[in-house]
Amino acid sequence: MIPQDTVDLILNTARIEDVIEDFVNLKRRGVNMIGVCPFHDEKTPSFIVSPTKGIYKCFGCGNAGNVSKFIMEHESVGYYEALKYLANKYNIEVVEREITAEERENQQLSEALYLINQYAYGYFNDQLFDTDEGKSVALSYYKERGYLEKTIKKWNLGYSNSVYDDFTKKAVKGKYNIDILKKSGLTSHSGGDFFKSRVMFSIHNLSGKIIAFAGRTLSSDKNQPKYINSPETEVYEKRKNLYGIYHAKTAIRKEDECLLVEGYTDVITLSQGGIENVVASSGTALTSSQIRLVNRFTKNIKVIFDGDSAGIGAALRGLDMILEEDMNVRLVLLPDGEDPDSYLKKVGSDSFRDFLDAEAKDFILFKTDLLLKEAGKDPIKRSRVITDIVSSIAKVPNAISRSNYIKTCSGLLDIGEKLLVTEVNKAVDRIKDSKYKEYQREKSKVAQQRFEQKSIIDTNAPPESIVPLPDLPEEEYNPNFVIGKDEYQERDLVRILISGGDALYDDKKKITVAQYLIHNLKEHLDDFDNPLYRSIFEIALNALKNKQEVNSRLYTNHIDSEIQKLAVNTTSFPYSLADWESRGVFLQTQPHPDKNFARDSLQSILRFRLRKAQRLIDTISKELKEEDKSDEDKILNIKILQQLLKDKNQIMLALNQIVS
Ligand code: UTP
Ligand code: MN
Repeated sequence: MIPQDTVDLILNTARIEDVIEDFVNLKRRGVNMIGVCPFHDEKTPSFIVSPTKGIYKCFGCGNAGNVSKFIMEHESVGYYEALKYLANKYNIEVVEREITAEERENQQLSEALYLINQYAYGYFNDQLFDTDEGKSVALSYYKERGYLEKTIKKWNLGYSNSVYDDFTKKAVKGKYNIDILKKSGLTSHSGGDFFKSRVMFSIHNLSGKIIAFAGRTLSSDKNQPKYINSPETEVYEKRKNLYGIYHAKTAIRKEDECLLVEGYTDVITLSQGGIENVVASSGTALTSSQIRLVNRFTKNIKVIFDGDSAGIGAALRGLDMILEEDMNVRLVLLPDGEDPDSYLKKVGSDSFRDFLDAEAKDFILFKTDLLLKEAGKDPIKRSRVITDIVSSIAKVPNAISRSNYIKTCSGLLDIGEKLLVTEVNKAVDRIKDSKYKEYQREKSKVAQQRFEQKSIIDTNAPPESIVPLPDLPEEEYNPNFVIGKDEYQERDLVRILISGGDALYDDKKKITVAQYLIHNLKEHLDDFDNPLYRSIFEIALNALKNKQEVNSRLYTNHIDSEIQKLAVNTTSFPYSLADWESRGVFLQTQPHPDKNFARDSLQSILRFRLRKAQRLIDTISKELKEEDKSDEDKILNIKILQQLLKDKNQIMLALNQIVS
């Protein structure tokens, strides 16, 4: 655990331009610095660093954050390692504090599981390279598959021998706790080894820790499952992990594309062949958590299907999920009887790549083609295909892409464009409704968790593992009602607080914009629809209580990655206009926003409160119309309503005064 003081010291000492210049050539451009983005391929620089605000942003690929985020992204490390890196660079001594009993309880098990898995890998590695059984059975198998020794090492492959409890005995002798061995799944309940006579594949999490294993049998006994996996544990949730993501993430970002294959062996073979941006969902159906994992590195995903996949139709249905995450999905079907592993070995890396480029088809078009072929001339089947395609198109969040799909598919399906538009719109409405309901449900839950976790720095939980907010349905989806109905009003307050919190609201009285906002809103924080926005205000409230200044760094350096992201996106770069305009990088038509915080605050507070008052008025008026209420209730409601209408009038009066 790094104490919060030290975290603050590190983040306040580190100069972002200094840190980034170790990796990127930066040139001064007015108040900012500019360079070629290290996160995507580009020739003309669109990567901007603001030394005064302590943040960076790429206007090409959108990567943005504070100094620790840069190190996390660039070095592919967790929050904790990033802090250590910075501490080291600035010679800041990190005296880790003892974790509390409660923190220890939560951590101990995961920590122990990581250690045991690491130990187990060491054991499987020894078995493979240093025992006769391992060398003759397993090492020769890997060699036959074409795996080089450095590949075997890189992927932490190994072997589990045939002795009943060899591993467990050694582990217990080495003082590993038997209960935790059983929890990890490496030891079965009866006390014997779970993996026996299998070649072993280590499964890593995003930061490279071994969290589980898969073992492949070498026997041809059909009663034996070909692969068995560690059970789910505190550190291994199947549906959240993708095999290969740790080794692939840098390449995925560089290539701006992720290849998705079926199995362990496919990932390893492709990676050894120099195609490194590849992951596998290994056996299970793809989940939305896995897709979001990929989404952190790229928007482009290419799914590679084996040439003999019988159930492609069914698999396709699962892929609609990728569309929902607003990612571009393309599909490649390998030639008959080939999987990525076998096909790469057959044709070599270059031809493999060419094949992918030539054969990749857009997901929806591929699906339409395939389903139509399957349906043949049968009119009932054909109409089912239309329903199916309509529901896929409706899941595409971007309206322009949707309309392009409609055009193309109307031709393929031989159905009028207008009709297709109507059907898609109906489906979009249905999705909107259910998403909104889901969002409301999740909202309260997440708000709760967020406040519980906010102040804990957990060395095993980098910011990204803090409960993410449910994804808001895209605005585009929802032009007239956007999520929380008061999204705009709420967001505006947040913008002012983050970007202008430290500006003076009143020169003479020496109050800051943050103090002013908090003073006027602290009674109304529960009214925020969006729990993320609400926590932005909670943080300011706390900071002020502790006599801390509320400025953009309070948020851009925040441990919660959602808050950090929002803050970085809200903080405007102090542009020197002439520079950017002449380069065409950025056109700012608005007057400089930094100047208007004080004036905007009052207006935004009033708008926010007006919206909330109006909503209460609507609810209560509706209740008044309901027949089944007692007279007592009604009278009370009328009183409340009168008060609210009075409030509303006052707010409107005040608003009119500033506007005019
Ligand atoms: P394969 O049957 O191709 O496995 O399954 P393999 O090890 O590559 O076998 P050979 O050498 O080609 O015959 C491909 C992937 O499907 C998953 C694994 O991820 C495997 O890498 N799989 C397969 C399982 O999870 N469980 C199984 O029982 C079989
Ligand atoms: Mn195979």
